[in-house]
Formats: sequence, C-alpha cells, structure tokens
Amino acid sequence: MKLLLVAAAALANAAEPTFTKDIAPILHERCAHCHRPGDIGPMPLLTYDQVRPWSAAIKQSVQQRRMPPWFADPHYSKFRNDRRLTDAQIATVSAWVNAGAPKGADKDMPAPPNFTEGWSFNRPPDLVVDMPLEVRVQAKGVLDLQNYYVKVPFDKEVFVEAVELRPGNRKVVHHSIVNIVDIPEAVEPKDLLTGKKHGRIIWKLIGQAPGKGAESHWPGIAKRIKPGTYFEFNMHYTPTGKEETDRTKLGIWLSKEPIHHEVVTAMAANEVYRDGKLIARADLPNIPAGDPNWAIVGVMRVKDDITVYSMSPHMHFRGKDMQYSVKYPDGRDEVLLNVPKYNYEWQLNYEFANPPKIPAGSVITVRAHYDNSANNSRNPAPNEDVIWGQQSWNEMFVPWIEYSIDKNNLLATPRAAR
Ligand code: HEC
Repeated sequence: MKLLLVAAAALANAAEPTFTKDIAPILHERCAHCHRPGDIGPMPLLTYDQVRPWSAAIKQSVQQRRMPPWFADPHYSKFRNDRRLTDAQIATVSAWVNAGAPKGADKDMPAPPNFTEGWSFNRPPDLVVDMPLEVRVQAKGVLDLQNYYVKVPFDKEVFVEAVELRPGNRKVVHHSIVNIVDIPEAVEPKDLLTGKKHGRIIWKLIGQAPGKGAESHWPGIAKRIKPGTYFEFNMHYTPTGKEETDRTKLGIWLSKEPIHHEVVTAMAANEVYRDGKLIARADLPNIPAGDPNWAIVGVMRVKDDITVYSMSPHMHFRGKDMQYSVKYPDGRDEVLLNVPKYNYEWQLNYEFANPPKIPAGSVITVRAHYDNSANNSRNPAPNEDVIWGQQSWNEMFVPWIEYSIDKNNLLATPRAAR
C-alpha cells in the first residue's frame, strides 16, 4: 500500500507543472500587460523571483476569476482582448502552487514579452504629446474636471492605428480623456493652460481609467485626426491628502497602410428612456435613495450599415449592470455584450473578435441598472438621492460604442471629397 502511494506520488511529480515551462507562458500572455514595471498591477509578474512570493495570492485570484479583470458574460460574443484564463490554465496554475511552486529548468524559460518601456504596444509611438504643463494637484477637496489643450502638430490629416493615454501620476489621475476639439481663434494661447473648458468637442479620441487607455484598430481601420484641431486633455484628479503633480501623455501610432474606414466613437444612447418614456438627458430624474434596481434604457437607431468594433459601459459607484442588444430589421434580437456585474473600478473596453455588421434599420438598445441601496458595497451614501454629474458619487449613463460606417470607404472616395 505504502509502495503504491509512493509510486503515485512519483507519477504526479512527473506531471507537475513548473514555472519556466508551464506558468511563465500563461502569466506573460495574460497578466504581464498590467503586471510589469510602470503599469497598473501592484507588482510585476515576469520572472520566477517576482512571482514566487505571490503564488498563493495568484492561485486564489485566478480560481475566483478576480484576475485578470473581465466582466463580460461569456455567453455572448467573443472578444479579442479577453484575457480570461481557460479552466485548464487555472488547473495548471493551481497544481503548480499546490506542488510548492517549483521553478523548473532555466532552459524552458520563455523570452519576456516584448513591451515598449512605458507603453502597451511593441513599438515606440510615432509621436508623444505631453500635456502642455505639469499640473499641481491640491492636497484636499474636490476638483472640477480640468482641461488643457495642445494644438495638433500635423499639417495634414492623419490616421492613427493605435493610441494610448498614460497618466504621469496614477495616484492622482482618477481618469482622463483626450478629445479632439475646435478652438475659436479668439481664445488666447495662455487661456488654454488654465484648466478651463474651451471650444467644441468634435469627438472623443480615447479615455483612460484602470484597465483601459490603450487601443489599437484592425488593419485598414483607424481614427482620423484633422489639422488645425486641438487635443483636449480632460483630466479628473482626486486629491490624495498631499500636493501632487501630474503630466499625462498621449502616444500616437500612425497607420502604415492605406486606411479604408474611419472609427467613430459615440454613445449608443441618442435616445434615453425611463419607464418607457423618452426623456431628455438634461431631465434625467435622480436615482432615489435606497433603490436597489433603478432602470434606464438607451437607444441608438442605425441609419447606415455599420461595423461595430468595441463597446465600453461607463457608470459610477451605483452602476450595477449593462447590456447591449440589437434588433435587426428582420425582427431578430441578439445580445452583443452583457456585463451582469459591472465594477466601477475597472473601465474595460470590450473589443469584438469578429466585429458584428449591423444593417441600416437595426435598433441597438442598452439596458442598465443602478443599485443605490446599502447592498451595494461601493455605495458611499445609500440614504441620498443620486444626481447626474461627473464626480464618482454622481451618476453617469454612457454606453460607449466604436464603429465605422460601411459606405464611407475612404479608398473609394476621392481625397478631395472627404
Ligand atoms: C488589466 C490589468 C491587469 C491584468 C491583465 C491582471 N491584473 Fe492582477 N492586478 C491588477 C491591479 C490594478 C491590481 C491591484 C488592484 C486589485 O487588486 O484589484 C491587481 C492585483 C493582483 C493581485 C493581488 C491582489 C489580489 O487580488 O489577490 C494578484 C495576485 C494578481 N493581480 C494576479 C494577477 C494574475 C495572475 C493575472 C493574470 C492571470 C493578472 N493579475 C492580470 C491589474 C491586472
């Protein structure tokens, strides 16, 4: 009997996963994007020495599927940036930790993943745009959103295949957005450095928050930046108790190949409904104190055939769930993205692995709920009505969608006519 047990143990031993052979490839592919020096993960997870002290926490976080952060219901759509581990990978990580987290042979260690220091892609940006000044963030109190402007440095229209917004100081940057804006000529250059809002937003280029801030587009698809416009750094700072400074920067990767379609970022809620009644955004009622399941519906009527690349739900502390679905002209309904347990701490962009084509005449509907009761552990004030606004303790209903309009094929349109 004893002999048998020993034999079984030896067998198990032979199959035991090692760090260099089995674990490093998983961590490099699924975790290192955030867990590397200078990124948002609290510790790097690249080498054995870095990983070993965290092995128990790693096992727990992957078994509970807290890491990597991902909130889309797997029943609907496939996403190309889905970093969730497979059940087999979770089993491998668990078996490795149970076996005492052995290192294995050095020769099995894969090369470290290729990141450009400070950026998420594997080549340096073609252009880095720094905020026009180092911003001093006061120690205490509440700050309104601050806006700083930099003139677009191109003299002709460009297309960007990737962009990334990186905070200078993650302790104080709660989140940030870069919009492309028109600034009237009357505005003095010095006014563009005061933090005050100027001009008119043409569109949003990119938003940054934990889990989000770098995006790349499919080959031949890109975002357009026109000369004569400005980058607006729209900054939400949260004081930390001591004075801090920040200089956030924007990285731009220009498209190297002909672009056939432009990506547009919009809200899939041109119309907003409450209890079946159309209401103006300015007239949204407060979310009553204690309400555990306050519902709102957004509608986007699709006028031309479009291709959808990504969706990104945005709500604040009371955000509970959000689901995007489409009703096709033939009456069929399909869910494109379901986030049943929204988590405000993670603003993720869900990028379709097979970008859905949505024909003209379809209706995209977004259904969201908010939990303003004490059951919501993130709720800072369950006994107060919630108003709509930019601060985290106010609410927002922003179902982002990124798409292109199929008929606007840039290669088929003479340049002058664009
Ligand atoms: C999108 C970025 C991101 C990815 C991808 C990611 N992490 Fe994390 N991880 C974080 C951040 C930020 C924290 C700290 C905040 C928190 O715990 O939520 C964290 C915390 C952790 C912690 C410590 C706290 C805890 O929850 O136990 C562990 C362990 C961890 N991550 C393991 C992993 C592993 C293993 C992977 C890959 C399978 C992974 N992470 C993928 C961003 C990420």
